[in-house]
Amino acid sequence: MKTILVTGGCGFIGSHFIREFLKKHPDFKLVNLDKLTYAGNLDNLKDFSGHKNYKFIKGDIADPKSVAKVFQSFRPDFVINFAAESHVDRSIHGFGGDFINTNIYGVFNLLENANKFGLEKFVQVSTDEVYGSLDLNSSKKFTEETRYQPRSIYSASKASGDFLANSYFSTWGLPVTVTHCSNNYGTHQYPEKLIPYFTLRAMTNNPLPLYGDGKNVRDWIYVLDHCRALELVLLKGKAGEVYNIGADNELSNIDLAKKILDILGKPHSLISFIKDRPGHDRCYAIDASKIKRELGWKVKYRFDQMLEETINWYVGNPEWTKKVQKKTGVFNPHMDL
Ligand SMILES: NC(=O)c1ccc[n+]([C@@H]2O[C@H](COP(=O)([O-])OP(=O)(O)OC[C@H]3O[C@@H](n4cnc5c(N)ncnc54)[C@H](O)[C@@H]3O)[C@@H](O)[C@H]2O)c1
Repeated sequence: MKTILVTGGCGFIGSHFIREFLKKHPDFKLVNLDKLTYAGNLDNLKDFSGHKNYKFIKGDIADPKSVAKVFQSFRPDFVINFAAESHVDRSIHGFGGDFINTNIYGVFNLLENANKFGLEKFVQVSTDEVYGSLDLNSSKKFTEETRYQPRSIYSASKASGDFLANSYFSTWGLPVTVTHCSNNYGTHQYPEKLIPYFTLRAMTNNPLPLYGDGKNVRDWIYVLDHCRALELVLLKGKAGEVYNIGADNELSNIDLAKKILDILGKPHSLISFIKDRPGHDRCYAIDASKIKRELGWKVKYRFDQMLEETINWYVGNPEWTKKVQKKTGVFNPHMDL
């Protein structure tokens, strides 16, 4: 039986990945190493806590001793690294050190141990934000050849993690693959992120704060489409390669806010404009033709349907939200209303 070390598996995407992978691959053991920051939630995988092929370890990827112990104990055949500080606003508002620690030094610790013990594949889960920002209304999309131009502490720290990962491939031949995905949405996402945040605010008739003119564009992908792409990259992706993942679904924040309000039957007058985020990237759009061509991945989920299902999940699971809020406090203290 092969072992996969999943880091950050109690977060939004990692928990979906673990659930889907365990359901499909009974011949793999998954070890989830997670620090349980404010964004990590054991409840996201409550139904799998006693699963015979699943083991949770509380630990910090930025702590060399914890990481070494996990490698010694489990000798993973694969690593997929989701663990990260992931919210741009927090990187702007005083938590930059956490981003450097986890997204750079943590990645280094994982790579050092992977190189020492050897493995079949190391997947570094990264973001399209490392490419910087596109001009609004340009027809350009980010390809795997696009130059890195990160513009926030979050994206700069993720870019550094990617460079480190690639350097272990060039220097030692460690089988590393890096992925760049666009904005994910789905259930169990910590409600600082736009879709759950706006949904919860609209449900309670609170204004939806939109940065700047609201015309910034994001390219949305349903979380399970991302997870299937990562499964393919982990099992079939080529070492030393980079794969972009996106669903060709670009939408401005204001149009997304209107869709959320329409689904909830709330008035558009709840939209309120606030001072723009410093260095706010204007537009992201991903060209995912390489992963489609080389690994046979394709988009399965339709945006309008899954957006509605996602919103209905937050409406139907107030206990999940209440519990998270009790543990972590205000969801997005940085949006200045
Ligand atoms: N959410 C998106 O839209 C998106 C898009 C592209 C790429 N990504 C990348 O995907 C990954 C997962 O994103 P997410 O949205 O699920 O994030 P998240 O914030 O929901 O979860 C992050 C998880 O990592 C854990 N963690 C943080 N620091 C850690 C540390 N030092 N050691 C161990 N665990 C730690 C947290 O406890 C949490 O469980 C990240 O690497 C992110 O950069 C996210």
